[in-house]
Amino acid sequence: MVYVSAKPIMYGILILWLCSLRLSYCMVSYQPEQIHLSYGDTVNDVVVTWSTVNGTKESIVEYGIGGPNLTANGTSTQFVSGGNEKRKQYIHKVKLPNLTSGTKYMYHCGSNKGWSKEFWFVTPRNDSDWIPHLAVFGDLGNENGRSIPQLQEEAQRGMYDAVFHIGDFAYDMDWENGRVGDDFMNKIQPIAAYVPYMTSPGNHEEAYNFSDYRTRFTMPGNAEGLWYSFNMGPVHFISVSTEVYYFLEYGLKLLTNQYSWLEQDLKEATSSENRTVRPWIIILGHRPMYCSNDNTDDCTNHETWSRVGVPFLHWFGMEKLLYDYGVDLAIWAHEHSYERLWPLYNYKVQNGSYAEPYHNPRAPVHIITGSAGCRELHDLFGDQPEWSAYRSLEYGYMRLRVHNASHLYTEQVAVDKGGEVIDHVWIIRESHGPYGQE
Ligand SMILES: *[C@@H]1O[C@H](CO)[C@@H](O)[C@H](O)[C@H]1NC(C)=O
Ligand SMILES: *[C@@H]1O[C@H](CO)[C@@H](O)[C@H](O)[C@H]1NC(C)=O
Ligand SMILES: *[C@@H]1O[C@H](CO)[C@@H](O)[C@H](O)[C@H]1NC(C)=O
Ligand SMILES: *[C@@H]1O[C@H](CO)[C@@H](O)[C@H](O)[C@H]1NC(C)=O
Ligand SMILES: *[C@@H]1O[C@H](CO)[C@@H](O)[C@H](O)[C@H]1NC(C)=O
Ligand SMILES: *[C@@H]1O[C@H](CO)[C@@H](O)[C@H](O)[C@H]1NC(C)=O
Ligand SMILES: *[C@@H]1O[C@H](CO)[C@@H](O)[C@H](O)[C@H]1NC(C)=O
Ligand SMILES: *[C@@H]1O[C@H](CO)[C@@H](O)[C@H](O)[C@H]1NC(C)=O
Ligand SMILES: *[C@@H]1O[C@H](CO)[C@@H](O)[C@H](O)[C@H]1NC(C)=O
Ligand SMILES: [Fe+2]
Repeated sequence: MVYVSAKPIMYGILILWLCSLRLSYCMVSYQPEQIHLSYGDTVNDVVVTWSTVNGTKESIVEYGIGGPNLTANGTSTQFVSGGNEKRKQYIHKVKLPNLTSGTKYMYHCGSNKGWSKEFWFVTPRNDSDWIPHLAVFGDLGNENGRSIPQLQEEAQRGMYDAVFHIGDFAYDMDWENGRVGDDFMNKIQPIAAYVPYMTSPGNHEEAYNFSDYRTRFTMPGNAEGLWYSFNMGPVHFISVSTEVYYFLEYGLKLLTNQYSWLEQDLKEATSSENRTVRPWIIILGHRPMYCSNDNTDDCTNHETWSRVGVPFLHWFGMEKLLYDYGVDLAIWAHEHSYERLWPLYNYKVQNGSYAEPYHNPRAPVHIITGSAGCRELHDLFGDQPEWSAYRSLEYGYMRLRVHNASHLYTEQVAVDKGGEVIDHVWIIRESHGPYGQE
């Protein structure tokens, strides 16, 4: 006969009984996950954002140059997913202020109840020789997130100073009571824990008034990341919500507030002192003003609302602002394809603009890069209009390098062709100002 101690069995039964009484004691997790970086109001402030299943008293980042000899404390908020389970998680946000330019920092985040592994990031340089490198894309998704592996590899190899994901993240972050969003945030952690992951809202973030978008990301400014701007080297970056034109049920006020903010922001960015230091103005958002896809999206229609404003009244259209203030480049997504346009305004390619490089273009340059992946696959093209310079259905993303005050370079890579560059263009502007006056 084999003697079996009854003790472990008794303990097991006791624990099971306790668990059935208070299941919560068995399901506690304070482990940081979904770790991602973003810029604060300046690129010398980096914000670390992460999630825990259960709440912690403290939200701490230990960081530093040689080793983690600095500490920053932040705050956490309970995020309740809009779905029927009312599933909870805690989102922690900690700002690392006044960082030294052009410097590599190590960090980890969490609290005395659980720490992340160690990550690193490099702050932007502040000398005039510096060339910012960015990756830009939209419409990535958990399922068929084609560009994720290559972006993870390149981010950790230090190829980018920042990444812009311009809408349509997980398909969709709120699905399965937010679990799809959690899964997505964990999939991008190998990118976003190393490189600031800057965002714009897309139509797939609409649920519960964009609550997943507004809560999970931490963008500059005070509009919950719906619209904001920041300066980086020779560039003034602006991100807008094109969705304020399409989900009017959340308030016309969002549309009018964004519009007046944008006008004011452009006024300040184009003051002569500011534009001398930062000649390039690049605007990003989700839905394009133009596209040549074969579908019923607004951009296939002449009167795109974000471009010309609300129907009939034509109030609050953004294209005129971009033209009047001499915005250099406008980058969009939403169409699951890549398309580069000739410099155009109000459907007219401006004189002398059918040539590469774009030398002193007479209107903003629009590029659509919405083919990073996603379960909805591609959006096919219709006939190619005369204002469309190049287009492709390859999955991939865009790279952006701002060489100096006059030269900007963009290229599109195809991830299924081993990262081959399928399109590139230089934009050369010897002086940056309103197009009408040139
Ligand atoms: C931890 O979080 C889980 C999931 O939200 C919850 O069921 C449980 O009650 C929490 N436990 C504690 C101790 O807060
Ligand atoms: C932290 O370490 C760095 C590099 O070793 C050093 O330059 C810095 O002065 C230290 N900071 C503090 C607060 O000790
Ligand atoms: C952060 O919080 C910890 C623990 O509460 C405290 O010891 C530390 O002094 C705080 N650090 C700063 C910079 O506020
Ligand atoms: C950061 O720098 C600003 C301006 O130099 C200063 O006012 C502020 O106190 C600093 N903040 C911290 C946390 O060091
Ligand atoms: C650039 O950054 C370094 C380190 O933060 C700082 O010492 C220097 O003053 C800055 N230079 C300019 C021109 O802002
Ligand atoms: C949606 O959220 C925005 C941003 O927080 C807020 O200003 C607006 O009032 C909300 N709209 C509705 C209908 O709740
Ligand atoms: C220059 O830009 C800064 C923000 O970067 C802004 O605060 C300032 O008002 C602008 N200057 C002018 C003259 O508009
Ligand atoms: C283009 O050039 C033609 C002929 O010089 C001129 O009539 C027309 O107004 C110009 N159009 C634009 C948009 O500059
Ligand atoms: C700007 O960069 C371009 C591309 O690298 C280079 O050809 C050009 O000479 C540079 N211009 C200045 C003024 O440095
Ligand atoms: Fe979209």
